[in-house]
Amino acid sequence: MTAALPPDAVVLPDADAVAHEAAERLIAACEASRSERIAIALSGGSTPKRLYALLAGPDHVGRVPWDRVHWFFGDDRAVPWDHADSNVRMVREAFHHGTAVPAAHLHFIPTDAGPEAAAETYARTLLEFYGADRLDPARPLFDCVLLGLGEDGHTASLFPGKPALSETARLVAPVPEAGLAPFVPRVTLTYPALASSALVLFLVSGESKRAALRRLAAGEDLPAGRVTSQGRIAWLLDAAAAA
Ligand code: 6PG
Repeated sequence: MTAALPPDAVVLPDADAVAHEAAERLIAACEASRSERIAIALSGGSTPKRLYALLAGPDHVGRVPWDRVHWFFGDDRAVPWDHADSNVRMVREAFHHGTAVPAAHLHFIPTDAGPEAAAETYARTLLEFYGADRLDPARPLFDCVLLGLGEDGHTASLFPGKPALSETARLVAPVPEAGLAPFVPRVTLTYPALASSALVLFLVSGESKRAALRRLAAGEDLPAGRVTSQGRIAWLLDAAAAA
């Protein structure tokens, strides 16, 4: 069956094993970084909660260089940061309300400004952190990008058929209409931003993702399948998703 999966997919027994494997790879990415400041783009939704809680938990918290890591968001929903659909709220809760994370190292997307303005501001935040006014293919912005997979094959907030898929210049794009619930406007990193990475880790778990995985493996042109990286892309799947 593995032949029907993305070529270098790793199938793990369950969601907890996916989270543990992702934690090891993320920590290894931090150890491999030659930058004083390490940049990690966080995925939203529910799948990565386990990973984030692991990283801030007793078995891993001492292995993450929290003083060097800066956490960015691959996307967020245009809702208040304390809203149940906010990725900021999800990350803060999973990171135990930032007990380990220096507040200045969590770079939220300013969704309260509205999707268009938030996209402009966040792109500036990324480039200011990067220290240049454009990305250099030889120097990726992110040491690691975490991504999920939606049942429709979306990733971040890059939904099938939506204009953000065609953005080849801007690093961050507004998404006025989400393709899946929650149907609120979003802000998302674009393919050029995701590509500026040393490592992309897709975390996929649960039976509900099986169909999207099969469509990807069959070569269907879905947003998640269009992600590239200047470094490596790894798919971490649990058995339920990969069956
Ligand atoms: C978001 C995510 C999105 C997510 C997928 C999978 O903000 O919703 O960035 O791309 O990764 O929709 O979500 P689940 O992990 O909740 O299934």
